Amino acid sequence: MTSPWRATVLTLFPEMFPGPLGLSLAGKALAEQRWALNAIDIRGFAIDKHRSVDDTPSGGGAGMVMRADIAAAAIDAARASMLAGAPTLYLSPRGTPFTQAGARELAQAQGVILLCGRFEGVDERVLEARNVEEVSIGDYVLSGGELAAQVLIDACVRLLPGVAGNEGSLAEESFASGLLEYPHYTRPREWEGRTIPEVLLSGDHEKIARWRREQAEDITRARRPDLWEKHRKG
Ligand code: ADE
Repeated sequence: MTSPWRATVLTLFPEMFPGPLGLSLAGKALAEQRWALNAIDIRGFAIDKHRSVDDTPSGGGAGMVMRADIAAAAIDAARASMLAGAPTLYLSPRGTPFTQAGARELAQAQGVILLCGRFEGVDERVLEARNVEEVSIGDYVLSGGELAAQVLIDACVRLLPGVAGNEGSLAEESFASGLLEYPHYTRPREWEGRTIPEVLLSGDHEKIARWRREQAEDITRARRPDLWEKHRKG
């Protein structure tokens, strides 16, 4: 068997992994070896007797900064353990936004190396010297990169061949077409006085497809004018 898609995570909290990635869809796929996970403790690359990985910011200011030499040693070890063709990403609110297109691209690579920060950040020189791309999962600040790494891994793993099972649902879901998804309904037919839209019970597949398309467009226009503009301009 060729080696499966692999996520190598560099973190000060390796116990946070697999965490939720060990359950449900991703967890089942992990057990089936459809992907592999390696959480490496950055502290293992410390070189002083206090095992320190951070230091005070040059120029002063609050917080601590992850040392370039320690982060570089961790990245080099991760790269040595991976097949070529796995980019190294640093999770940070300062990064370029992670998107569904980004997940698709990463899922097609050999895997990914993820550097998780704590503290104020990591010494900029290591990002330059090791060609590390900075990626954000959204415009809010988490207390570390680990949860962001888990979000990113989950988004990739569910796209791997054989993981999601129902490939049709991948094609229809939000963002696949650049639109948000239409609403879903199931039995009971009436619940708390609310009924299911008549068209969905009609059996007319063409009419149903048209209705879903219109719903997806209306929802996208109302909730995400940015996506709607992009979709409209093609
Ligand atoms: N680390 C802290 N906040 C983050 C965010 N929004 N995205 C990625 N990594 C982060």
